[in-house]
Amino acid sequence: MPEADKKGKVVLAYSGGLDTSVLVRWLMERGLDVICVTGDLGQPGDMERIRKKALDTGATDARVVDARDEFLEDYVVPALWANALYQGRYPLATALARPLLAKLQVDLAHSCGATAVAHGCTGKGNDQVRFEVACRALDPGLEIIAPMREWTMTREQEIEYAESWGIPVPVTVESPYSVDENLWGRSCECGVLEDPWTEPPEDAYEWTTSPRGAPDEPDYVEIDFACGIPVALDGEEMRLAQIVDRLNALGGSHGVGRIDMVEDRLVGIKSREIYEAPAAVMLIEAHRDLESITLTRETLSAKRPLEQRVAEMAYEGLWFSPLNRAVRDFNASVQERVDGTVRMRLYKGTAVPVGRRSPNSLYDAGLATYDRADAFDHTASRGFIELWGLPLEVWAASERRRGEGEK
Ligand code: ARG
Repeated sequence: MPEADKKGKVVLAYSGGLDTSVLVRWLMERGLDVICVTGDLGQPGDMERIRKKALDTGATDARVVDARDEFLEDYVVPALWANALYQGRYPLATALARPLLAKLQVDLAHSCGATAVAHGCTGKGNDQVRFEVACRALDPGLEIIAPMREWTMTREQEIEYAESWGIPVPVTVESPYSVDENLWGRSCECGVLEDPWTEPPEDAYEWTTSPRGAPDEPDYVEIDFACGIPVALDGEEMRLAQIVDRLNALGGSHGVGRIDMVEDRLVGIKSREIYEAPAAVMLIEAHRDLESITLTRETLSAKRPLEQRVAEMAYEGLWFSPLNRAVRDFNASVQERVDGTVRMRLYKGTAVPVGRRSPNSLYDAGLATYDRADAFDHTASRGFIELWGLPLEVWAASERRRGEGEK
């Protein structure tokens, strides 16, 4: 194409799969220079091969960004501080990744002078919303191109199109599922899973063994936290990425972290999802448990509804919102006390905290005990109850007078 017809540069969020590979060609045909960016968030796959595939497919440039630490520090940790579970269950691996991938795109667009970004999300999912809302929050001036929302190619037509351009189509039997993975978890949907009555077949799971086949003896693991951030396993200090990797493997071997749920998508659809997130499930469970001995009753009760808001903001593409930032600051302050160790028992699909201790513990054995060491002043309870119940007593007396008035 003559230089004069070029319409500029676009940064494509590229996974190396069929969809985004076809997208490279499709964007090129529209006169755009395509720059691919792939975020390494700990998903399996050979990143260098993905980069090379992008170039072979026709991309002008292709970058792989190792964003694992940034993902952990700026997305996973704030989510962990919030014990974030969407609709009480989903630890949000896919949802947390999207604003970061959008940020990588926007940063690259700025550094290479692109005026547009593109993604390969379909028109009925959450990810399109997350990508685009994040991009608009980061740079409202960028054009956003979402070809998969407009084109009508079937899978077969895509394969034909890919073959006609010499794009390698995976010869292996494609997974019957749509899968997304990063170090915080694996999301799996489609195929037989679309029937919410059908039990997920074992082949829907890859990170976890079936609890049925898990060891008959429990394993124990001690997780150390400092300021609400995991810092060691069984007393051995390590980087967060390593802790997450280890817990995914250990929890997975005990069948921990399988989630089978019907969830509410942002676009109004209920969808059946299978998740595997051993580390996320264990860390959230352990973290919440440690909070129970390090935070006051008032702090806990104020924090819980905010936790749900964080999960919703992550799910709903509002990660870069001012509310999310404010709640993160609140949590950062609260977490200053959340130091200590939680001991967890892993057994046949369950991960249960069975012990917790903290240098900042608010648990006072002298106050709690029922034995002779009891330091609690029982007689003080009498006056307390009198005042605590006073409003109800006044109310009840007034109700009685009202009843008598009606007679
Ligand atoms: N339902 C989950 C979410 O919205 C997972 C989506 C999985 N995405 C995918 N491309 N397979 O976060």
